Amino acid sequence: MNIKGSVAIVTGGVSGLGAATSRLLVERGARVVAVDLNARQGESFAAQFGDELLFFNANIADEAEIRAAVDLAASLGPLRICINCAGMAVPPARTVGRGPTPYPLDRFRMAVEVNLIGTFNVTRLAATQMALQEPYDAHGSRGAIVNVGSVAACDGQTGQVAYAAAKAGIAGMTLPLARDLSAVGIRVCTILPGTFETPIYQYGAWTQEQILDFKNKLIADNVHPKRMGDPREFATLALELIQNEFMNGETIRIDAASRMRANPNQ
Ligand SMILES: NC(=O)c1ccc[n+]([C@@H]2O[C@H](COP(=O)([O-])OP(=O)(O)OC[C@H]3O[C@@H](n4cnc5c(N)ncnc54)[C@H](O)[C@@H]3O)[C@@H](O)[C@H]2O)c1
Repeated sequence: MNIKGSVAIVTGGVSGLGAATSRLLVERGARVVAVDLNARQGESFAAQFGDELLFFNANIADEAEIRAAVDLAASLGPLRICINCAGMAVPPARTVGRGPTPYPLDRFRMAVEVNLIGTFNVTRLAATQMALQEPYDAHGSRGAIVNVGSVAACDGQTGQVAYAAAKAGIAGMTLPLARDLSAVGIRVCTILPGTFETPIYQYGAWTQEQILDFKNKLIADNVHPKRMGDPREFATLALELIQNEFMNGETIRIDAASRMRANPNQ
C-alpha cells in the first residue's frame, strides 16, 4: 500500500486520535476526508491544511451522509484507506443502579448505534467503493481498514457495560470482516487503545479536577510508562496496519500493558 497518492477517510478525523491520524496521513502524502459530527472543530482543524484535507460534516451512523462522504473521497482519487476513529464515551451507570433502577435502555442503544453500528456503516460503504476500484498489486489488494475499539472491549469496568459491549462488537467484527472482504482484496484490523490524552474525557458535568483525578486513576493501571498515551503513538500504529500487507484480521491493544481494574473509583 502506497500511502502517497491514496485517498483516506478518517472518521472522528478532526479530534484526538483521529486528528493525529489525519495529520500523519497528510504528512505521508495521502489526501484525507475527515468525517465528523462536530462542524466547529472540523472547520478549524481543516483550516490548518490546504486541499490535502477536506472536512465532511456527517454522522457515521447515517447511511446517506456516509454515502456522500465516500463519494467525495472517491472523487479525489483511489479510496484505499479507511480509519474509523469516531466514537463516543458513555456516561457510567451500573446495570442495576440505586433504587434499584435498571440501566437506561436508550443509553445502551445510543452507545451501540454510534460506536458499533456507525463503525460498521462506514466500513461497509467505504469497502464497497474500494471494491469498485482496480487492485494496486498482483495479489488483488484494493485497500485497508482500521477500526477503533477500546481496551474496555476486554476489561470493561464497573459502569461501562454499554461502551464495553459496543467496543467488543468492533473487536468481534474484525475477523469476519477480514474474511468477507478478502474476496475484494481489503484487509481489516482493529486497535484497542488504552488511555490516550484526547478531548474524549471532557464530557458530562465533570470539573477539570475530577477529569484529572479520573485520568490519574486510569493510568495507575499502566505497567509502563505511567502516563497518558500520545495520539501520535496511536497514529503511527494505525498507519503501520494500513501499510503492512501481511497484517489482517488482527485486534491489537496499545495500552502500556494496562489491565483496567474492576472499579475505576477504587
Ligand atoms: N482517548 C482514549 O483514551 C480512548 C481510549 C479507548 C478508546 N478510544 C476510542 O478512540 C476513538 C477516538 O476517540 P478520541 O479519544 O480521539 O475522542 P475525541 O472525542 O477526541 O474524538 C472523537 C470524535 O468522534 C466524533 N464523533 C462522535 N460521534 C460521531 C458520530 N456519530 N459521527 C461522526 N463523528 C462522531 C466526535 O465529534 C469527535 O470529534 C473513539 O472511538 C474512542 O472510543 C479512545
